[in-house]
Amino acid sequence: MEKQRFYITTPIYYPSANAHIGHGLTTVLADAMTRYKKMQGFETRFLTGMDEHGQKIAKAAAAGGKSPQRHVDDMAVIWQNLWQKLMIDNDDFIRTTEERHIKGVEKLFQTIYEKGDIYLSHYQGWYCVSCETYFTERQVGEEHICPDCGKAVDIIEEESYFFRMSKYQDRLLNYIEENPDFIQPASRRNEMINFVKGGLEDLCISRTSFDWGIPVPINEKHVIYVWFDALSNYITALGYGSDDTSLYDAFWPADVHLMAKDIIRFHTVIWPIILMAADLPLPKKVFGHGWVLLDSGKMSKSKGNVVDPQLLIEKYGVAAVRYFLLREIPSGQDGYYSEGALVQRINIDLANDYGNLVSRSVAMIEKYFEGTVPAAGSPEPIDQELAALAAAVVPEAASYMDKLDFAGALAAVFKLISRANKYIDETAPWTLAKDPADWQRLATVMVHLLESVRIATMLLAPAMPNIPPLVWAQTGHDPQACRDWQQLAWGGTKAGQQVKKGEGLFPRIEWKDEEPKEAAKAEAKPATVEPVTTETAKAETALIDYETFAQVDLRVAEVLACQPVPKADKLLKLEIAIGEERRTLVAGVAQHYKPEEMVGRKIIVVANLKPAKLRGVESQGMLLAAADGDRLEVITLPADVASGSKVR
Ligand code: MSP
Repeated sequence: MEKQRFYITTPIYYPSANAHIGHGLTTVLADAMTRYKKMQGFETRFLTGMDEHGQKIAKAAAAGGKSPQRHVDDMAVIWQNLWQKLMIDNDDFIRTTEERHIKGVEKLFQTIYEKGDIYLSHYQGWYCVSCETYFTERQVGEEHICPDCGKAVDIIEEESYFFRMSKYQDRLLNYIEENPDFIQPASRRNEMINFVKGGLEDLCISRTSFDWGIPVPINEKHVIYVWFDALSNYITALGYGSDDTSLYDAFWPADVHLMAKDIIRFHTVIWPIILMAADLPLPKKVFGHGWVLLDSGKMSKSKGNVVDPQLLIEKYGVAAVRYFLLREIPSGQDGYYSEGALVQRINIDLANDYGNLVSRSVAMIEKYFEGTVPAAGSPEPIDQELAALAAAVVPEAASYMDKLDFAGALAAVFKLISRANKYIDETAPWTLAKDPADWQRLATVMVHLLESVRIATMLLAPAMPNIPPLVWAQTGHDPQACRDWQQLAWGGTKAGQQVKKGEGLFPRIEWKDEEPKEAAKAEAKPATVEPVTTETAKAETALIDYETFAQVDLRVAEVLACQPVPKADKLLKLEIAIGEERRTLVAGVAQHYKPEEMVGRKIIVVANLKPAKLRGVESQGMLLAAADGDRLEVITLPADVASGSKVR
């Protein structure tokens, strides 16, 4: 049977030495989507490229003392390197200065011209070089400012070819209304419906005042307007206008044009009308995601606040950067980047939750079964519940990915990861290991764990494609058996498989901000919850945002042992377990609790506090307690709350 096909595109990027993580979001999302569709058995095609013509680029090249062609050639290398570092596996990289593209654009122009939808006239009006967009008097206002980027616009007056967009207004409106999937998310669709209802004017599609563009086939004095040129890339890259149209025949219409919301108008108004005028099918979906914002607003070169993805990749690794972009920016909405938020995602999601699950599972099979995966016995309800959750998470993740919602998909995968971590605490393999009569049960637990690791890792593969090979090298799974979507069915972990502990997948990052220094000062004291009096309420001027709060990794811990610290009458030394992890903690609670009163308690600890030495003992965290005058109450949870659980 012929495979189903899937064609996805990103915008083609302007040549610029300032690629930032906002650009990275579109491309990583398209890449993750392609990998997901491949797992599902689709024949995929993923296109990205560069938008190399136009007045803005001609100006930038002149400012750098280069020819435009030299300028764009230099920049193409920069973008291609970046995509390689971000593990972008595109099938094609189109550049609009390539002959194959120029031929296709000429054909498209000629076709529409012959149909009578392009005519020669005269343009007088406003133009933003930065956005390469025409604006009306009303749009630029009295100040003559670009409504999109806020820069000053130019007045231009020249002979121009015009495209009869107005003629297609009703047809486009009907199309958008009859095809609810065409513009996504729905908020963008409504915006565009209102825009089209507001009336479409004919569009000026040629310029004569510079020559860095594709000449109009019927009049060499003119170059084609850069957006007409650029939008055509989605079909010229498939061979439209060439002798070989096999790719075009196989892959057009595109399944998804992906981009940020600011250029959705070009793709849902100008592009469909170009296609209608040329009698070509329209793309199935245009999806406008949100922006990556900083506290200082949208990232932009002119503001000088761009975050370079390459530096982040060098510092934190490609998997973490890709994961952050996909997980942190909610689908279709704006989201914020900060280095603290990235580190937090690494430490909490990737190191503590996922990385620990992998390493604990492998370590236990090494320890209890000498590295050979045992045969499972008959499952108990708790095992069946884990397997059922895995089975439910697979279609749930798929339904999110189908909507290009990777934040939702990854959240679903982490439900399984958290459950598997909790399963370790609940089944307590270390206790089962003590009694040979429990070894069959221990074997069943190990197999369930490793199978959960396998399924979670496969589901994370589109987001972090370099991680599965590292995991399979430790878990002993056959990579060929962990590749396709059908292989996500429960039961891929086999008895006899050899595990081998390797390096931690995501080492915890020490985050050096002002915060830890302050926290270190308070090291001997437990963190306390003061009763709220009017005094304390008044002092509450410095409110923190959620992001700052969320940087604190609060966990449930079990106190395994406790003893006084010699020559320190206020301190107790606690041995605690946070899930599988053992730690030592020093707390200033000795005047309120005897050591034996602490043992067995389920307490809350700050797990990501920088270790500090107190009277020669290293404290790896801090416990929470409430201070009510002289009274101090260590916050204690019911015994059945699993150690290692997050406190939110
Ligand atoms: N060349 C045009 C696209 C032509 S497509 C036929 C262009 N190029 S761009 O390099 O300026 O932008 C490419 C993409 O990056 C656009 O979708 C743009 O919106 C996106 N982003 C630029 N800054 C962004 C953020 N801060 N956040 C998310 N995406 C952002 O536009």
